[in-house]
Amino acid sequence: MNTSYLAPLFMAVLLIGLALAHPAAAQDATAGKASYAVCVACHLDNGAGNQALNSPAIAGQEIWYVERQLTYFKEGLRGKHPKDIYGAQMAAMALTLVTEQQVKDVAAYIASMKPIPRPAPTVKGDAEKGKALYTICATCHGPDGKGMKELNAPNLTLQQDWYLERQIKNYKEGIRGNDPKDIYGMQMAPMMATLPDDQAIKDVIAFINSLK
Ligand code: HEC
Ligand code: HEC
Repeated sequence: MNTSYLAPLFMAVLLIGLALAHPAAAQDATAGKASYAVCVACHLDNGAGNQALNSPAIAGQEIWYVERQLTYFKEGLRGKHPKDIYGAQMAAMALTLVTEQQVKDVAAYIASMKPIPRPAPTVKGDAEKGKALYTICATCHGPDGKGMKELNAPNLTLQQDWYLERQIKNYKEGIRGNDPKDIYGMQMAPMMATLPDDQAIKDVIAFINSLK
């Protein structure tokens, strides 16, 4: 039996397989780096963020979370509320990522960045009291604050405390997480009822600041 036709056949199947596999597999951090050029102005080249420009640290944040936030900004699920002035600044920037592929690639690049040690705390609170308040947060964000993908909850230990404070207030005041299509924000927002006042917000953040 002549089997010589098998080798080219095998190659053809392999090549088709590779061609099909490629688009799905692609999250190209190198391509993402090029799209990141416009982000440097506010988030800096190492992803450390810049308080003077109200932009949070993003270095090392998980890819699925970054991808979702960028999509939210693009689609107006975040940064659309009239009182969300900082979200609106970011939403305009997300529009520079025209294709879904660009969003995926830049998310891969951000996730690949080395996390930056947090700057000295700017929010003063009682970490002991905050620890008790954090018990409920731990169910989704984890006891170590590093987030849990299964529950769609991001890492809270990468960002500066002033950014966390703003987001918690945004959730509490319905500025973020109020769009019915924002299913993950809608999970988060009701949890803010467990933080009755500004002092409770500061206390829980003081505890998050104490997490390594
Ligand atoms: C003009 C300044 C500016 C530029 C440029 C900018 N951002 Fe932002 N970005 C912000 C601000 C301000 C926020 C915080 C918005 C808020 O408080 O809700 C933010 C938030 C984010 C977040 C959400 C972080 C989180 O933890 O939820 C991501 C992700 C992000 N930016 C990625 C990018 C990417 C990628 C680019 C480039 C395509 C970019 N940003 C360009 C100002 C900027
Ligand atoms: C039921 C699960 C759940 C609980 C409990 C919960 N969160 Fe969240 N949290 C989430 C999810 C999901 C998101 C992401 C929403 C999104 O993707 O837009 C989030 C987002 C956040 C963010 C925004 C982070 C960023 O990078 O912008 C902060 C801050 C936060 N949570 C703090 C807290 C604190 C503090 C508590 C406790 C008082 C808490 N969360 C309790 C699910 C939860």
